[in-house]
Amino acid sequence: MRASSEQQATTVLQTPRLWLRRFSAADSAAFAAMNADAEVMAHFPAVLNREQSDALLARIDAHWQREGFGLCALECRHSGALLGFCGLLKVAQALPCAPAVEIGWRLVRSAWGQGLAYEAAHAVLSWAFTELALTELVSFTSVSNQRSQRLMQRLGMQRDSGGDFLHPALPAEHALAPHVLYRLSRAQWLSCGGTSG
Ligand SMILES: CC(C)(COP(=O)(O)OP(=O)(O)OC[C@H]1O[C@@H](n2cnc3c(N)ncnc32)[C@H](O)[C@@H]1OP(=O)(O)O)[C@@H](O)C(=O)NCCC(=O)NCCS
Repeated sequence: MRASSEQQATTVLQTPRLWLRRFSAADSAAFAAMNADAEVMAHFPAVLNREQSDALLARIDAHWQREGFGLCALECRHSGALLGFCGLLKVAQALPCAPAVEIGWRLVRSAWGQGLAYEAAHAVLSWAFTELALTELVSFTSVSNQRSQRLMQRLGMQRDSGGDFLHPALPAEHALAPHVLYRLSRAQWLSCGGTSG
């Protein structure tokens, strides 16, 4: 599918199968459907209702305006469907790995298992380490989220077990509280063949 002029204006990155672009109000229903899916949200404390999902979209927009980077909507270049998000987020100050910039992702269930999250994240690493000139990225997830950890490993991120933490937003005994921390420096990314292309 060819990019419209509006799409070109909001596109941040492109990959063979995806547009990575700023979210718009037109995404809110599809975004809410993803956030209401119990399987997608299995490693979060709860699914989001429409109001919570819209509030998250507003926070993503505010982050972009404040920092000049953020989470990107993933749009299928073939169908135009919203497939999720991938991008960069300043780590909340309450987390022990702050200050840092995190790479994060969430895809609709039907888009898992096709290498699409890897494809998007690979482009985001290049954006972070070249255009944005960041020196290090982190990523973290609950111990139980093996899919997300496999993606971190495929991207060449290194486990920093000394940085593992209990998420402060959850009671320490909550099953999702224990988190693993991964890091990737610009130097490590370059040494693994990272390029701006
Ligand atoms: C985490 C998440 C993004 C991973 O998605 P994913 O599709 O498993 O990740 P990838 O894009 O790396 O795809 C890898 C899978 O695609 C397969 N694949 C198929 N075609 C491929 C291709 N062309 N290139 C690479 N992998 C391909 C791989 O074999 C692998 O399959 P496997 O899971 O059976 O081993 C997804 O599970 C998700 O959105 N989860 C819910 C939200 C979440 O937990 N987010 C993280 C919170 S910290």
